[in-house]
Amino acid sequence: MELLVLGVLILGKSQNSDIIGYMEHLIIANWKSNPINLKEANNIFSNYLKLGKKLKNKKIIACLPYLYLLLGEKLKSNKIFLGTQNIFPETNGSFTGEIKIDMLKNLNINYAIVGHSERRKLGDSNEYINKQISLILKNKITPIFCIGEQKRDHDGKYLSFVKEQIIKGLNDINKNYIKNIIFAYEPVWAIGSDAIREATKEEFIEMKIYIRKILSDLYGSKIASSVKIIYGGSVNSKNAKIFIDASADGLLIGRDSLNIKNFESILNSF
Ligand code: PGA
Repeated sequence: MELLVLGVLILGKSQNSDIIGYMEHLIIANWKSNPINLKEANNIFSNYLKLGKKLKNKKIIACLPYLYLLLGEKLKSNKIFLGTQNIFPETNGSFTGEIKIDMLKNLNINYAIVGHSERRKLGDSNEYINKQISLILKNKITPIFCIGEQKRDHDGKYLSFVKEQIIKGLNDINKNYIKNIIFAYEPVWAIGSDAIREATKEEFIEMKIYIRKILSDLYGSKIASSVKIIYGGSVNSKNAKIFIDASADGLLIGRDSLNIKNFESILNSF
C-alpha cells in the first residue's frame, strides 16, 4: 500500500519543484571518532577554513568529536559551522562521562547529529532520539536527524521502518520547531566501509517525497515543504552531484570528509 501511494506521488511530480531560485547546500562533515590525534585534527580543520573562504552557495558543517570542538575557536569564516555527533539528553544531575548541552552551547555549536545508525547500533532508541531532538531544539541548536532503513525489500517494509523512526523521533515536538530540523536520509546499507553501494538517484527521490508526505500528514504541506532533506552514505566526488541534481538540500559525508583532497573534490563537483 505504501509503495502504491508513493508511486502515485512520484508520477504526480513532473519535475523538481524544490529547486526554486537561490539555494545554499549543506555539506555536513561527520568525522566520527577520527582522527587519532589533535595535530591531525588541527591540520584537517585548518584546511576546512581555507576551503571555506572559496565556497559559493555551500555551507560546511563540521561535526567533530567532542575532544576537538575547541578548534572552533579558530572560526572566522561564516561558511563553516560546528556541530556535534551526539547530544546527551539530560540536563539536571550528575552524569559521569557525559557532556551536557550547556557546556556545548559555550563553544559556538550550531548543529547536532542525532539518530546516526552507528549510534542506534549502540542502543539509541527512537524514544531516546526524541528526547535529544526536543532538548536540542529548546536550546536553539539545529538537529540533523538521521533516518534510514537497514535493508531494502520488495514489499515496502523499509518505508514503514523509516516512517516509524520519523513519527517516534518527532513525538510531541512543537509543530513550530519542525521546519528547523534537517532530515538526513542515510540508508544503513550505504554507510561506511561495510557499505554495499550508495543509494541511487531514484531511491533518494522516492525517499525524499515519502519523508515530505509523512511530514505533510503530520504537520501540513507548508511545514513539510520547508524542511531540508539531505543524503548521506558513501558520498564521493563521483556521486555527489547526482544527489544534488536529485534536489538533495545537502550531503552528509563520512569517510571523504577526513581526506582533504577528496573533500575538496566533492565541494568542486557541483
Ligand atoms: P560514509 O559515512 O560517507 O563514510 O559512508 C556517512 C555517515 O556515516 O554519515
